[in-house]
Amino acid sequence: MRKLYIETLGCAMNVRDSEHIIAELTEKEGFQLVEDPKEADLLLINTCSVREKPVHKLFSEIGYLNKIKREGAKIGVCGCTASHLGEEIIKRAPYVSFVLGARNVSKIRDVLEREGAVEVDIDHDESQYAFSDYRSSPYKALINISIGCDKRCTFCIVPYTRGDEISIPPELIVREVERAVAGGAKEIFLLGQNVNNYGRRFSDRERKIDFTDLLKMVSEVDGVERIRFTSPHPLHMDDRFLQEFATNPKICKSMHMPLQSGSTRILRRMKRGYTKEWFLDRAQRLREMVPTVRISTDIIVGFPGEEERDFEETIEVVRKVQFEQIFSFKYSPRPLTPAREYRDQVPDEVAGRRLSLLQELHLQMLDEISEREMGKIHQVYFDELKPGGYVAGRSDNNWIVKVKGSEELLGEMRAVRITKTGRLALEGEPVA
Ligand code: 5AD
Ligand code: SF4
Repeated sequence: MRKLYIETLGCAMNVRDSEHIIAELTEKEGFQLVEDPKEADLLLINTCSVREKPVHKLFSEIGYLNKIKREGAKIGVCGCTASHLGEEIIKRAPYVSFVLGARNVSKIRDVLEREGAVEVDIDHDESQYAFSDYRSSPYKALINISIGCDKRCTFCIVPYTRGDEISIPPELIVREVERAVAGGAKEIFLLGQNVNNYGRRFSDRERKIDFTDLLKMVSEVDGVERIRFTSPHPLHMDDRFLQEFATNPKICKSMHMPLQSGSTRILRRMKRGYTKEWFLDRAQRLREMVPTVRISTDIIVGFPGEEERDFEETIEVVRKVQFEQIFSFKYSPRPLTPAREYRDQVPDEVAGRRLSLLQELHLQMLDEISEREMGKIHQVYFDELKPGGYVAGRSDNNWIVKVKGSEELLGEMRAVRITKTGRLALEGEPVA
């Protein structure tokens, strides 16, 4: 039996793409998945290109894999960096057997047989391809609802690696949800680059459906207990969507609201389509409608033209919204993107200082935010064993919560009273 090793960088979309690759190779080609690259006959790396760092990492990583791999084993590069570098990867690393871009995942069996193959067509339509089933977790199911992205945020490479947005037909999504539930998953995680733009374009025929309708459909599937989704765009957070989010008991009360910047001037240069005021209004509305909600966000500091006063506005929004989680990044100029050409790039040390300030401020906020959890009761869905005799899971509003326990809690939903708090995770005891 041939053995497959796969390494995944980047976002949840990539995790799902890796699952699809594993499914195609294990179900249809008889591969067996292994964790040790030295054993493998095929070594894949599923890459991310959203910032420069992971791209550097790619070349050092495949160099390493090439050194340790078995005689005759093949290396393939998949994902977003595969899309944007294409054949350059084979030029720089001639030991790579094939390059398979994001959105070309369904061609994995085909490129396997073609030494030197480069499949990186960003117009390829896989929205209705019937992948074999493979899930890394029996408890939770990642399900794609769209491919690609129609936004053209001026910092972002994704439209050039994953192409235009196509929604997956709702009947296919519902069928996949039914299969996942039949396989034991109680939690469904809907994925897309811009989930609440769902329904704008299908590749077969038009349909009248939006993301709110899709959420209702998925929640009506018997056996679905929890629904999460990522990423929504703040621009499309209309009242109807927030209303469904607030009132549908199956929808988990955690929302990702990527701010990027708190300055309307910078948001305009980023082509985000909303203002600081709109963002604040949506966040406030959300907190009013769902008092238990946890809001996470993405912030870029040092975007070209960002001045001290713009950064202060970002800080102001952070203080006002009290985000429970912030993923913060220094702006990284990316190939093919308009912002890369802007003249007023921010010096690295200025961006670095802003990033540290933002992260320090948030760490202080996190102490207060987490201390408020003491004594509260959360409904936790357990899915992972932890060292030291613990089992961990997520609360409805996406706190990581661990309790003393073992396998018997896996796949179970329990009420837990919080007895110890921390910035990143909580600890508690099941309530009898
Ligand atoms: N530089 C820095 N961060 C970026 N992101 C996307 N593109 C860039 C870039 N060029 C961040 C955004 C996005 C997250 C996934 O990555 O904050 O929401
Ligand atoms: Fe990285 Fe973006 Fe591609 Fe996800 S879609 S792997 S975050 S570049």
